[in-house]
Amino acid sequence: LHIVVLMGGWSAERPVSLQSGAGIADALESLGHRVTRIDMGRDVAARLAEATPDLVFNALHGSPGEDGTVQGMMDLMGLRYTHSGLATSVIAIDKVLTKQALVPHGIPMPGGRIVKSADIHAADPLSRPYVLKPVNEGSSVGVAIVTDADGPGGNYGNPISPDAQGPWQEFDELLAEPYIRGRELTAAVLGDRALGVTELIPKNGWYDFNAKYTDGLTTHVCPAQIPDEIAEACRSLALEAHRLLGCRGASRSDFRWDDERGVDGLFLLEVNTQPGMTPLSLVPEQARHIGMSYAELVQAIVDEALK
Ligand code: DAL
Ligand code: MG
Repeated sequence: LHIVVLMGGWSAERPVSLQSGAGIADALESLGHRVTRIDMGRDVAARLAEATPDLVFNALHGSPGEDGTVQGMMDLMGLRYTHSGLATSVIAIDKVLTKQALVPHGIPMPGGRIVKSADIHAADPLSRPYVLKPVNEGSSVGVAIVTDADGPGGNYGNPISPDAQGPWQEFDELLAEPYIRGRELTAAVLGDRALGVTELIPKNGWYDFNAKYTDGLTTHVCPAQIPDEIAEACRSLALEAHRLLGCRGASRSDFRWDDERGVDGLFLLEVNTQPGMTPLSLVPEQARHIGMSYAELVQAIVDEALK
């Protein structure tokens, strides 16, 4: 097949996408496909029209490659592409729309509300500890955890000082969610199958952008050393969320588990419809664990797109 690998773009996750795309393109070539690499700019439609591929492998992360915009463009152009389609992407990129879509179906997710960044300087929006995050970014870009320790002698002050470094300086609105103590888990889905559960143990306390992409900063325990009941719950919730949102190909659901509360302490945080495919990424790692190489995973995502 002639496959365009669409990567880069201009979201905050551009460097991650370039790494995902490079790995995917190399794998597709090793599988015998003809590959055209496109680093997405504003001229992407013209470049895709010129390439006339059999398939576009979408290796973009963040907006506009993960939020439905690029999917809608490719739909209009009559191009086939990997991963989720327009409607699914619009919902899954938005952490509030995702809650609205999944919670009524019994998927446990943390409560939360949108707050104006200007207002958090007058009063904490939730009792501490809580999390502030942009509604539609990935890789923990712009996430802040506000704890009791962030007092006058700490980082943020109480309430948070407008001068303190944080996402309130960049985003007009943020999602405030209660912070769930405990452990960080993730489960990948490929087609109609949940691949496994990984626990992430960051060396510096939490799984932020650096911990995600710097080798050695996070221990990945795959499969997670957790009770069978919790692992099974993660797998079935990831599969259910993938189905409810109408995801295609690969997705990855991220969880927090309060291990003092048993299965009642398990919360799905979000569903990633364009999960990372870098050397440190979790979907390739879970695939490897069940005996599927990186190239086999890439081919399986291609096969899912052509079904
Ligand atoms: N947003 C990053 C790429 C992920 O979910 O893996
Ligand atoms: Mg994400």
